[in-house]
Amino acid sequence: MAQIAVRFRLMTEVEDFLAGDPIRPFINGKYMEPRSEATLEVVDAGSSIPIAHVAACGGEEIEEAVRAAERAFEESGWPTLPPNERAVYLHRLADLVERDMKVLADMEALDCGKLHQAAFADIGNCCQTLRYYTDLSVHTSRRSTIAVSGHEAWAMRHPYGVCAFIFPWNFPFLLLGWGISPALAAGNTVVVKPAEDTPLTSLYLGKLIQEAGIPDGVINVVPGLGPKAGAALARHPRIKRMSFTGSPEVGKFIATACGGNLVPTKLELGGKGAAVVFEDVDVKDTANKLVQIISFHTGQVCCTASRWIVQKACYEEFLSSCTEAFDKLKIGHGLDSRTGMGPVVSLKQKERVLSFLDRGPEEGAPLLYGGGSAKAEGCESGSYVKPAMLSGPPENIAAQKEIFGPVAYVMLFETEEEGIRLANSTEYGLANSVWTNDAARASRVAEAMVAGNSWINAHNVFVHGVPYGGVNLSGLGGGVLGPETYFDYLRPQSIVRPLQ
Ligand code: NAI
Ligand code: MG
Repeated sequence: MAQIAVRFRLMTEVEDFLAGDPIRPFINGKYMEPRSEATLEVVDAGSSIPIAHVAACGGEEIEEAVRAAERAFEESGWPTLPPNERAVYLHRLADLVERDMKVLADMEALDCGKLHQAAFADIGNCCQTLRYYTDLSVHTSRRSTIAVSGHEAWAMRHPYGVCAFIFPWNFPFLLLGWGISPALAAGNTVVVKPAEDTPLTSLYLGKLIQEAGIPDGVINVVPGLGPKAGAALARHPRIKRMSFTGSPEVGKFIATACGGNLVPTKLELGGKGAAVVFEDVDVKDTANKLVQIISFHTGQVCCTASRWIVQKACYEEFLSSCTEAFDKLKIGHGLDSRTGMGPVVSLKQKERVLSFLDRGPEEGAPLLYGGGSAKAEGCESGSYVKPAMLSGPPENIAAQKEIFGPVAYVMLFETEEEGIRLANSTEYGLANSVWTNDAARASRVAEAMVAGNSWINAHNVFVHGVPYGGVNLSGLGGGVLGPETYFDYLRPQSIVRPLQ
């Protein structure tokens, strides 16, 4: 830790928070003593050096957190506050996140291996989400009249109670914002289980929750391993809703556990996004953009474009432009301002990425560029991988599985139908993009892709108010970021009075 602090001049607030031994769960408005001495080591992805110890919680702490959230729902007045009064607390929390933006961004960059400016953007995005749903809650009615004959009827919407959230390690604070903001704005209370690899910023939020004066128990954060803390939360019979973001394998487990208790569930799972590139584009510019996209957060982005489907006439120029752009990419520590691409989150994830670079070529998709382990200047260790491009048939393992690394799988097409067919040749259905200057073709192809989101001449476009979510192996339950998501956290009730 000291080595990192000296090299990157960490803020004292960051050092002080990381020195907590261990950093404790935030339950009922306090950082409380964990029930056991078990801890998780939190590692700087860029150097593989341990930077903090966090309590490894289990079923007991989850039970306490659910109980605290239940009590807050029943006794604190949070769910029945007028939305504009609840909004004062939530905007205050967003103000405090903004005030501590640099502390949070430093911690997030270290924890995930993110570039510093990307970590800043994530923290800012969390604030925007909190403000978007808070404002929506102030300006939407929860009561609507139903016009029927012979009866007075209306519908009401109420918060559910305790909502549970399990988050992954790729965008810890951004996804926390996407998840809990609509639930809180609607008047629910929440229990959060952050990823074991990246729990720091979610736990730091506890300080800001205290300072914002949010009633005890409204927001609880319990760190721990997936199969222990995560599984205890998913199985808990008294949670009223569950939201999970992560791998399809764990998503199925969560859905089964929650299904056993008939708890409604949202799953935001992985993807294998396609970018369909037509010959009429500026080929070099599009290649540069796609290289940026696959190297953004070192490819650990569920909606990234990891399959590049390129029209025959521009295929060779596209490949040589990609090679040029990859050659310029500087691999380094996330906190080093010269870095263009950081490490992957952990050595385990590095092994996973490298294993696909063995298996893809073994099964008939040769490596066109890069691949293998990388080193960063000034770092002895760290989970660095080189970017890679493979090419082969659509059924290859590297074209079918989510790799979550800077690995692009390139395929060639001739007709528009073929391009669409290749884009849809996946079990996933999260997000794709089409690249062309023909506006009519762009809309046609965008609408023909079987996924929750299609982008035109861009990728990873997120606008608060535009729903984002997957179909098939990419998820279920309505997605996030849209106004509908706010209503997902309100249970409907209809009320009828016969008029005669
Ligand atoms: P994961 O799905 O195991 O982890 C996500 C979250 O689920 C973490 O908080 C973890 O603690 C929790 N979890 C794990 N097992 C659990 C269980 N039995 N019960 C309850 N909660 C549990 O993801 P992992 O293993 O870290 O990454 C593996 C692959 O998953 C990645 O390489 C990537 O392909 C995919 N992934 C996709 C993400 C996305 O945003 N769509 C995010 C993270 C991973
Ligand atoms: Mg896992």
